[in-house]
Amino acid sequence: MKILSGIQPTGLIHLGNYFGALKQWLDLQTCLPVGMEKNDCYFMVVDLHALTIPQNSAQFKQNIESAILDYLAVGLDPKKCTLFVQSQVVGHTELAWILGTLTPLGELERMTQFKEKSQQHKDSVNAGLFTYPILQAADILLYQADGVPVGKDQEQHIELARTLVRKFNLHYPLPKNKALFKEPATILPKEGAKILSLNDPSKKMSKSLGADSYVAIFDRPEIIRKKIMSAVTDSGREIKFDMKEKPAISNLMTIYKLVSGKDFAQIENQFKNKGYGDFKKDLAEKIIEFLKPIQDKRIKLEKDKKKILSQTLELGRKKAQKEADKTMKLVREVVGLPEIK
Ligand code: AMP
Ligand code: TRP
Repeated sequence: MKILSGIQPTGLIHLGNYFGALKQWLDLQTCLPVGMEKNDCYFMVVDLHALTIPQNSAQFKQNIESAILDYLAVGLDPKKCTLFVQSQVVGHTELAWILGTLTPLGELERMTQFKEKSQQHKDSVNAGLFTYPILQAADILLYQADGVPVGKDQEQHIELARTLVRKFNLHYPLPKNKALFKEPATILPKEGAKILSLNDPSKKMSKSLGADSYVAIFDRPEIIRKKIMSAVTDSGREIKFDMKEKPAISNLMTIYKLVSGKDFAQIENQFKNKGYGDFKKDLAEKIIEFLKPIQDKRIKLEKDKKKILSQTLELGRKKAQKEADKTMKLVREVVGLPEIK
């Protein structure tokens, strides 16, 4: 399968990003579960998407480079997948423009992320924030991806990409009823598609809810302990998985499961006659243990970052550009744009 996904360079990766997206990327690049066919994976830093929110140029540049090093630290391997930066490949914005001419405004107006972000950034609701999902559809179609591994909040955007595939294929049919694009599937993780905020379990874990909302994968142990110990809990004192009645503790149990590999019954059993405090203390240690190798690797990468970055990005950009060029050649042809020789 051809796989594509991206994450914005926001300066930090939290457990929601890790378990919603990155963990799936790791599994897909190594073809897990075992026996799965080999995948052709494209993973990118979507810097153009991040521009929809005001950025400081110097910091932005650093965040983009840092995101690539973060990907390497979690275990993405440039030998097994194509790692690149969206803005370094020509074609994303061009295809987005063409898709934009096929996108009804109503489709964009109902996007939850647009509604939320335009609320959050009331004084800078720019056109990019509105057309954001068109660029995302272009990202996916440019590589003719079959599957897009993301967290639950991105489902609506992938659905729009499918809608745009249908519109494009209808508007620009190929001879013999063939179609240029195929509809990409959303790939959600079984567990962790929506990790909730630590201080408000009615919302998803997110950088925009403040540092107490999330554990970042590079948070130091003492910060992780502090954040977990002050996480909101539900009434009662039983450690029991019940998303409806006990969303806060169920969310923490989900994280426990993901970092420890234990299932819910084992966790419930282990903390049968214990309280929330004991559970949280152990959870913090399990998270710290889980993140330690990633954090150690990130420190190592930092030491040689210039070389690592230039090698990784050059390799990724070339491979991605080749794929993008193939698609854009076909798109230009079918749309009727003059050929670029
Ligand atoms: P973002 O930081 O919004 O660019 O998100 C990057 C990736 O992480 C996307 O695939 C999201 O769906 C995923 N993601 C973000 N927040 C969460 C969350 N709280 N739980 C699960 N996945 C998430
Ligand atoms: N919109 C996605 C997010 O906020 C990031 C993204 C951009 C993306 N282009 C993509 C994800 C293409 C998957 C495929 O998380």
